[in-house]
Amino acid sequence: VLRELVGRIYAKNPMQRKRLEPYLQAQEPLFWSRADAFARGLAGYLESCGLGLDYAVDAYLKMCRDTLVEQTRFQRTGCYSCPGQKAAYTDTYANETEMRSYMVGLAVSQFLWANHYAIYAYYLDTVRECAGGVRTYLEIGPGHGMYLAAAMNAFRAVRFRAVDISPVSLNLCRGLLPFVAETRAPLHLEEADALTLQTDTPVDFITMGEVIEHLDDPRPILRKIAALIGGQGRAFLTTCANCPARDHVYLMRSADEIRALLRECGFEIVTERALLADQLPRAAPELRQMVNYAALVRARAA
Ligand SMILES: C[S@@+](CC[C@H](N)C(=O)[O-])C[C@H]1O[C@@H](n2cnc3c(N)ncnc32)[C@H](O)[C@@H]1O
Repeated sequence: VLRELVGRIYAKNPMQRKRLEPYLQAQEPLFWSRADAFARGLAGYLESCGLGLDYAVDAYLKMCRDTLVEQTRFQRTGCYSCPGQKAAYTDTYANETEMRSYMVGLAVSQFLWANHYAIYAYYLDTVRECAGGVRTYLEIGPGHGMYLAAAMNAFRAVRFRAVDISPVSLNLCRGLLPFVAETRAPLHLEEADALTLQTDTPVDFITMGEVIEHLDDPRPILRKIAALIGGQGRAFLTTCANCPARDHVYLMRSADEIRALLRECGFEIVTERALLADQLPRAAPELRQMVNYAALVRARAA
């Protein structure tokens, strides 16, 4: 099914073949079984909403185009175009047409963008390794729901809770999860700003993927996460540096800056991945180098 999706992407934009084909040809069978399961689930979800696979093709291509426009502007100005998290909410998270397309495109990129897949695969390994002690799980900003599905597949006998500011993301999670998660564990989905998260109950595992860069100041929520996981819990955090997008607000300029932010907010890094993005020519010194970053963290002892 992924091959079908990719074939339609090439038909609509032949330039994609040049970038995707060498990457796809280098993939192992494990990638194909994961990617096919995802593409089958996505196709089933789209059909259940009266949409076809072409919706995902268009969403992916639109996200690629939007990213290119933002990258070109960023290389010129050195700033992100989105003025703040309020604007991100109005223009993107609350906008049904834009947000659904963006999240479906992003879900497809989990398999078609090398760094996104590398971080997703790192997450799959991490949740499998951490599964033993986890009884409570919280996700902040599940977006398309693919990380939530992976956690639900890995953690058994767990109370799952996910909080997202976007009603569109939550609807997408509700619709897509039955097609990509193997369990029907109890799941509480909540529309809320993570900054106002009302909970003091300790959580064994928290995932917050690609949210830090969406906040005016990520420190309060990062400190809250450190407090919630306490001495025993773990959090899996992902973000990026020099990575413009329509709703990115908080600019970090290197992996070291990200690490310093995590330490400042009370975390110790257990394992991490810091990956240079493949979309830009690495040799050009004037380009601000994009980095995708993910870490498994624990709260630093006081
Ligand atoms: C780029 S998506 C990330 C999706 C997925 N977690 C991933 O890693 O690919 C960011 C998500 O965070 C949500 N979000 C942004 N700001 C938030 C906030 N203050 N509180 C809760 N969710 C937020 C957005 O609505 C969106 O669903």
